[in-house]
Amino acid sequence: MTTTKQDPIIYRNLIGGEWVEGEELLPVYHKYTGEVIGYVTKASKQVVHDAVSNAYETFKTKKLTTQQRYEILMRAAEIFKERKEELALTIVHEAGKVLKDARAEIDRGIQTFVASAEEAKRICGKGVPIQGQPGEDNKMAFTIRVPVGVVGAITPFNFPFNLTAHKIAPAIAAGNTVVLKPAEVTPIIHMKLVEILMEAGLPGGFVNVVNGLGKETGQYLLEEELVAMYSFTGSAPVGRHIKSTTGIRRVVLELGNNSPNIVHYDVKDLKRAAKLCVTKGYGNSGQACISVQRIYVHEDIYDEFVKEAIEITKTIKVGNPELPDTDVGPMISEQAAIRAENWIKEAKEAGAKVVYGGTREGAILHPTVLTDVTPNMKVVCEEIFAPVISIIKYSDIEDAFKQANHSNLGLQAGIFTSDLNLAMRAAQELEFGGVIINNVSTYRADIMPYGGVKDSGLGKEGPKYAIEDMTEEKIVVIDLEQ
Ligand code: SIN
Repeated sequence: MTTTKQDPIIYRNLIGGEWVEGEELLPVYHKYTGEVIGYVTKASKQVVHDAVSNAYETFKTKKLTTQQRYEILMRAAEIFKERKEELALTIVHEAGKVLKDARAEIDRGIQTFVASAEEAKRICGKGVPIQGQPGEDNKMAFTIRVPVGVVGAITPFNFPFNLTAHKIAPAIAAGNTVVLKPAEVTPIIHMKLVEILMEAGLPGGFVNVVNGLGKETGQYLLEEELVAMYSFTGSAPVGRHIKSTTGIRRVVLELGNNSPNIVHYDVKDLKRAAKLCVTKGYGNSGQACISVQRIYVHEDIYDEFVKEAIEITKTIKVGNPELPDTDVGPMISEQAAIRAENWIKEAKEAGAKVVYGGTREGAILHPTVLTDVTPNMKVVCEEIFAPVISIIKYSDIEDAFKQANHSNLGLQAGIFTSDLNLAMRAAQELEFGGVIINNVSTYRADIMPYGGVKDSGLGKEGPKYAIEDMTEEKIVVIDLEQ
């Protein structure tokens, strides 16, 4: 089954509602068949400058009311629903994501839009009890929240629809304008999202789009001083670069993780825990920042857990992402799969056991279970971003906490236990932006605050929380003695 036999479409850059040519055509590939399915035109430095200037001018001169912003975002969510299958297939083709996960991503993106629309109506400041300071009895004060201006959104390939939704929808809800730089390997779904926003009534200039490579187009965008705030999802080295080049402007950075998950001996349902750990280690071919990567299992249940993990892995269907029952498809590129394969080989040479998988066909890396790993192996201490899990035995829970924390990353962690006190201790001890109890690190509801500590980033996503970063809290003081 293939639905891609049509002339590749050329997607241009978007400025003020007009399509603008770029410097050269960049092909977009079908990640399973390798065929060219579209092109984007690469934005020059001048095009990026024009896109930012136009977004700034739009912000200064055109305002949408709260009700208009609410209605546009809700209408876009409706159109996404109507075109769900087409949008999901776009993700399947250009990201290699399996169909059922692509459909789930569209559903999540719809919720992100709806939640952002709802938040648009709740943006408010707070009263400030200024009279509490001696001599200030004749004053009143409160804060208001105002949009920051132009938001630069730099989005990733792994959830190209929902993570773009997480940047654009709150920015619009808050009254900002946006310049979007889509991931170069998955730009088509980004373009469709923006086209639908315009169809939903968003006037030109509120979202401009510049296509191209991160190190060129992305860099040009970072150099544009009229961008008030950047929201980026991607790797920690790029996150550091963004932070170091944007001076005192705001940044929200959602970076990586090598997510630990602890399965304690008192887990209520070992089979459920194993199934969640394994399937959420392989989902999206492991290309999620919160994918299960390290699994710390208590020695009393270790052998049973490993056996169960292997049995579950055997049932995972690998192959064509467009088939409805495929669980794991290709990674984003053969290069990405080779990188992970090399890490597995290195670990094996250093004493790890590949108890299942470990093989590669082109961009497909077969789901892999490792045991006998050590803390300094890359498969453990760095983010593998591939369908590879390591199962590690522990005897003392304090040691499990210590090993889980032994990382420069800190996005989300999971723990399975029936002991409420232990669960609460884990919530305190684990140095992560989120601790998920009796589910895996991969759990995310789109309305919750989502963001990491350490090298996993700065700031939070989730419409309500993103809006806090995308607005300025301004103090208003009234002197009653005038
Ligand atoms: C991410 O990779 O950070 C996003 C994961 C998700 O939204 O489920």
